[in-house]
Amino acid sequence: MKFKLPNLPLFPLKPKSHMASLVTVAEPQTGIRTPHSDQQLQEQEQEQQAWAETPPSKCLSSESRIERAWAHWTKLGRPKLIVAPMVDNSELPFRMLCRKYGADAAYTPMLHSRIFTETEKYRNQEFTTCKEDRPLFVQFCANDPEVLLEAAKRVEPYCDYVDINLGCPQRIARRGNYGAFLMDKLPLVKSLVENLVANLHVPVSCKIRIFPDLDDTLNYARMLEDAGCSLLAVHGRTRDEKDQKKVRANWDAIKAVKNSVRIPVIANGNIRHLDDAHDCLKYTGADGVLSAESLLENPALFAGFRTAEWAEGSEECKKDQKLDQADLLVEYLKLCEQYPVPWRMIRAHVHKLLGDWFRMHPHIREDLNSQHILTFEFLYNMVDRLRELGEGVPLHLKDTNVASIPAKSAV
Ligand SMILES: Cc1cc2nc3c(=O)[nH]c(=O)nc-3n(C[C@H](O)[C@H](O)[C@H](O)COP(=O)(O)O)c2cc1C
Repeated sequence: MKFKLPNLPLFPLKPKSHMASLVTVAEPQTGIRTPHSDQQLQEQEQEQQAWAETPPSKCLSSESRIERAWAHWTKLGRPKLIVAPMVDNSELPFRMLCRKYGADAAYTPMLHSRIFTETEKYRNQEFTTCKEDRPLFVQFCANDPEVLLEAAKRVEPYCDYVDINLGCPQRIARRGNYGAFLMDKLPLVKSLVENLVANLHVPVSCKIRIFPDLDDTLNYARMLEDAGCSLLAVHGRTRDEKDQKKVRANWDAIKAVKNSVRIPVIANGNIRHLDDAHDCLKYTGADGVLSAESLLENPALFAGFRTAEWAEGSEECKKDQKLDQADLLVEYLKLCEQYPVPWRMIRAHVHKLLGDWFRMHPHIREDLNSQHILTFEFLYNMVDRLRELGEGVPLHLKDTNVASIPAKSAV
């Protein structure tokens, strides 16, 4: 069961011990990764307690802030494989599925800070979590430091980072004056970060895009670090490079950022399977990687599974007889029954997960599209019908040891 975000008073902070009574523990899932042990959950709560008791970092020197950023990252187990923020797509059941298949941490979809502060329905629908949904980054878009702070205060008891979206390149972000369009307003970005850092009891992270000019990117990253940002996720594409499939992300720029700041850096772009994650960590020296689009087709990516597209030509990839995308969809649907989300999100995942199957059996896709109201029964039946048609689309498995890449030393 999910819990709905209560109307939290802004001050004082709810004591963290309160969480246990609000959050329902999910039933253990079978399969690849078991949920956190009681001991891990206890440690997490102690860690949160420690942050809650320590004053916000406005009073700390930059040296202490960097030490603190690393201490926090280390307490979280230095996550390497992370589910990227995706509007309508990195919602609770999807995060839980990815966690089961190897994700070490996850971002929520971007939440609109102003709407989040104003609308209870938006809060309840767009932000749900549960006790096992950790480590968790809650991402907001914003252009007003006070509004952002108010939104962040509501989620801080339930997450490990409050993240600012500084990378959205879409027209809606231009109109709304947020995301990558704040790259033209760096003093505003600085004040967004500083105000959060001065008033929150959880660390602040930022997800950025690169500038066309490397020096601009490095100055930007250093400015964010100086403002108190505790972790930087760098999408190695510029604001104008919108088509992720056509434009390769620039790992050299990510590497340069990693070398010029002292806080943890997460690399984003070009992670299509686990070998990519391994190569990216090694090449850039980043502390973790984010994957977005590829996870939508294959939420078991971080457990070493690949779709046929990325298995071809690799003799080490074996067809897996036990897991395919329809199995993953069924697992996802069960999680949706447990943690309800809007049907538009479920529909989007069905299309992404079964895209290859639908190409083989387009009449089943048409049938799905003709359903204006979906039910779980319809979806489970649809999977049965696909299976009865015989030809499946297997996933392939290749063992890649990402854990073998040594973590960079902290400071
Ligand atoms: C469906 C979708 C929704 C996204 N929504 C967000 C978002 O809410 N916040 C954000 O910072 N980036 C968002 N992104 C961008 C991704 O987080 C990521 O930066 C980008 O897709 C590059 O990673 P990839 O090459 O692994 O796909 C979204 C991407 C996709 C595909």
